[in-house]
Amino acid sequence: MLCVFLIASTVYAGYLYPEQIHLSWTENEGEMRAMWVTYLPVSSVISYRPILCNSIANPTEWTNIQGSSISFNEGQTITRIQYIHTGVITGLNENCYYEYSVGDGLFWSDIYVFSGRTPDYSAPFNTKEVEMIIIGDWGTGHNGVYTKHLLSQESKIRDFDGILHVGDFAYDLHNENGRVGDRWLNIIEPIATSFAYMTLPGNHEGHKNFTHYKTRFNMPLNEANNGTSYFYSFDMGPAHFIMMNTEVYFDDSNVTAITQMNWLLDDLNKANNNRELRPWLIVLSHHPLYCSVNWELPLLQSNGDCGPDAVMLQKNLDDVFYKNGVDLYFQAHVHNYEREAAIYKNLTVPSEYDGPNIHIGPKAPIYITNGNAGNYEGHNDPTSPTPQDWAQFWSNDYGYGRLIVYNNTHLYYEHYSSPDVSCMDHVWVIKTQNRYNS
Ligand SMILES: *[C@@H]1O[C@H](CO)[C@@H](O)[C@H](O)[C@H]1NC(C)=O
Ligand SMILES: *[C@@H]1O[C@H](CO)[C@@H](O)[C@H](O)[C@H]1NC(C)=O
Ligand SMILES: *[C@@H]1O[C@H](CO)[C@@H](O)[C@H](O)[C@H]1NC(C)=O
Ligand SMILES: *[C@@H]1O[C@H](CO)[C@@H](O)[C@H](O)[C@H]1NC(C)=O
Ligand SMILES: *[C@@H]1O[C@H](CO)[C@@H](O)[C@H](O)[C@H]1NC(C)=O
Ligand SMILES: [Fe+2]
Repeated sequence: MLCVFLIASTVYAGYLYPEQIHLSWTENEGEMRAMWVTYLPVSSVISYRPILCNSIANPTEWTNIQGSSISFNEGQTITRIQYIHTGVITGLNENCYYEYSVGDGLFWSDIYVFSGRTPDYSAPFNTKEVEMIIIGDWGTGHNGVYTKHLLSQESKIRDFDGILHVGDFAYDLHNENGRVGDRWLNIIEPIATSFAYMTLPGNHEGHKNFTHYKTRFNMPLNEANNGTSYFYSFDMGPAHFIMMNTEVYFDDSNVTAITQMNWLLDDLNKANNNRELRPWLIVLSHHPLYCSVNWELPLLQSNGDCGPDAVMLQKNLDDVFYKNGVDLYFQAHVHNYEREAAIYKNLTVPSEYDGPNIHIGPKAPIYITNGNAGNYEGHNDPTSPTPQDWAQFWSNDYGYGRLIVYNNTHLYYEHYSSPDVSCMDHVWVIKTQNRYNS
């Protein structure tokens, strides 16, 4: 009898045990959202407590909060129901770390730890240095494994604030009736359980109106995005970060393109009124505006990314970025790494001083392609034999980057080779005015 009971609970544990756990910031300061999956409809509980706080007055008891769940049919050819749970921990203190576990009250996950520092919207403002991992086009398969190893190691030994994934996950979230998405979310779990994993959609998420993307990732809500996780922004340290969706320019429907543009102009306007406090304006999205891969062969449809597609995006966004004084644009989609100089209208805009790894007083947005994390699609794209005039550095190795916004004047970006576990490129950007184009 006991034996049967034990076997039964072992079988059930797989369906009850939380998996695919990942964190994200919300639209409110001092909040962290946890999402996870079970295959049976069980209750959603997060148990947490602050640790390592400066103040000894902080309680160390565990607090349980109730989340909620939805059922999601992730299958295409068959029905595969998973239960996606979500819960938000509120009232975080930026001087604390937090231990937490998710589960149904009986079956719990491991205990993980995250930092209580979140985006910052109200006084007293915290404009101290902020560090972000930036990664693009990351999927399952052997090419992405180097990146998983290096980023897992880095997330244990080095401190950064969050992870910004600029589109294209798993390849694809919906493939094999959602199993590829499940596998990938488990692959990133050791990283995404400790750091907010902030996303925006790429073309690989487009299946059925981005259903898997919208359902599996809950990003900060705003009046315009209506809970789609397509576009949002946040303030952290001396920077304003804008995560936007270039897929709208490749869809039939322009409704979201117009909605997003209205939101973007309003958001840039607000950010520009706040540049004394946060002078850095950093935009991230999936499709590139400026890159060199096969740009010399624009007539080949499969090579349109840095040709006709990029030119189309320039028409939509180049002026918006330049006139609003955007400092950096991180892009992906093309599977390699390429760093450009400051560019406006397809021309290099000279800074007050430009060196191979430094721009002092830039006067236009600097473009960085960050699409080389590795995925199932085969080797990364070969770099262009004829890089464009503004190209500064390029590599088709696998990797990802780390951005450090030190203070109001100094920003540093470095890009790693995951197989070589080394830094392949770095750049300093140094401001001589809060906004170059005011
Ligand atoms: C996608 O959304 C559009 C507009 O809301 C709708 O007309 C269309 O049927 C949707 N397609 C799918 C596959 O759900
Ligand atoms: C917002 O989302 C809800 C739920 O998905 C949908 O019913 C509603 O039509 C959306 N509103 C707009 C303005 O898109
Ligand atoms: C979408 O907008 C672009 C310009 O931004 C325009 O060229 C295109 O025709 C529009 N498409 C639709 C379907 O309205
Ligand atoms: C961009 O500049 C290059 C020269 O660097 C030129 O060959 C190319 O045609 C330009 N592209 C567009 C769209 O004007
Ligand atoms: C800004 O950060 C850079 C790099 O750490 C440092 O050299 C510089 O002194 C800092 N500036 C101020 C005003 O703190
Ligand atoms: Fe892509």
